[in-house]
Amino acid sequence: MDRLTLRRPDDWHLHLRDGAMLAAVLPDTAAVMGRGIAMPNLVPPVRTTAEAAAYRERILAARPAGSDFTPLMTAYLTDDTDPDDLAAGFETGVLTAVKLYPAGATTNSASGVTDIDALTPVLERMSELGMPLLVHGEVTDAHVDIFDREAVFIEQILAPLVVRHPRLKVVLEHVTTAEAVAFVREHAPQVAATVTPQHLLANRNDLLVGGVKPHYYCLPVLKRARHQQALVDAVCSGHPAFFLGTDSAPHAVGRKESACGCAGCYTAPVALQLYAEVFDANDALDKLEGFASLNGPAFYGLPPNNDHVTLVRRPGSRVPDRLDVDGLTDGVQPFLAGRPLAWQIAENAPHASEMS
Ligand code: DOR
Ligand code: ZN
Repeated sequence: MDRLTLRRPDDWHLHLRDGAMLAAVLPDTAAVMGRGIAMPNLVPPVRTTAEAAAYRERILAARPAGSDFTPLMTAYLTDDTDPDDLAAGFETGVLTAVKLYPAGATTNSASGVTDIDALTPVLERMSELGMPLLVHGEVTDAHVDIFDREAVFIEQILAPLVVRHPRLKVVLEHVTTAEAVAFVREHAPQVAATVTPQHLLANRNDLLVGGVKPHYYCLPVLKRARHQQALVDAVCSGHPAFFLGTDSAPHAVGRKESACGCAGCYTAPVALQLYAEVFDANDALDKLEGFASLNGPAFYGLPPNNDHVTLVRRPGSRVPDRLDVDGLTDGVQPFLAGRPLAWQIAENAPHASEMS
């Protein structure tokens, strides 16, 4: 198969940032994705319905001319989140979901949750509303090894949480381990998961062998090859609980290539092409549309997009080397910058009526 037309995909986990960075990165996502779940870890975070509505306006204003990309907004859960505010945001269509960052787990998570048990009233309200909880699934305890933090979170926090709140819809974001895959399979359809391109294409050897590669550094950190394989098997199986979420997370080059480099891979310009490589390499191209375009909307109770994109297997394109950002001397370096791509996105996707 050298040509593949699929319903327009959505990105169910996306960092769009704000200001000049938002203006620079949004066109890369809007060129391919119909909708994107906009992560709320700005500085300061997007905590309330009012803040999410204002951020939504800034994203809409940054769209390229003619784009109808739709941002889906999230609120950042804190120890002080007001359940009435979340309910109002969800019922008026401003908020799509709520994001749980354990305090200190990752970029801009300092105002995150310190005691999940204290949030029972909020989670009960979300269960009643059918409002999904999106989880950064890592414990932050200093004594837990960074490579174990996802598995320990699942065992100690997430497993009891889904038992305590059996009607709460949960997305375990950017899964990285065989333990996460097993947990999602066991608890679907209550629990689903997003999977990033970097966790499908790389493992911790890519990050660490032959020198530290800061552009492979993200959180949760890449794991060993056995876990990478579990993720590939999960998405290529076509299981409906796994769907596309790039976790595209731009940082200035100087913030990545640093003695204390930031976590995050900027994948937006080439995410769909990279996912296509993974499915292709595993003879599972027939499962790509479900993963990219159908499973996410089904979990969120939304219709799939009506239009289509076409991927073509054609050599000759490469991951861009750099994205310019106003006011940044060094810009942003995409994940796998300069590497050849096996798949390209055709300029003019056919309309549904033209498809056989
Ligand atoms: O690698 C990451 N980057 N993981 C996250 O959880 C946050 C993200 C960011 O905001 O840069
Ligand atoms: Zn993220």
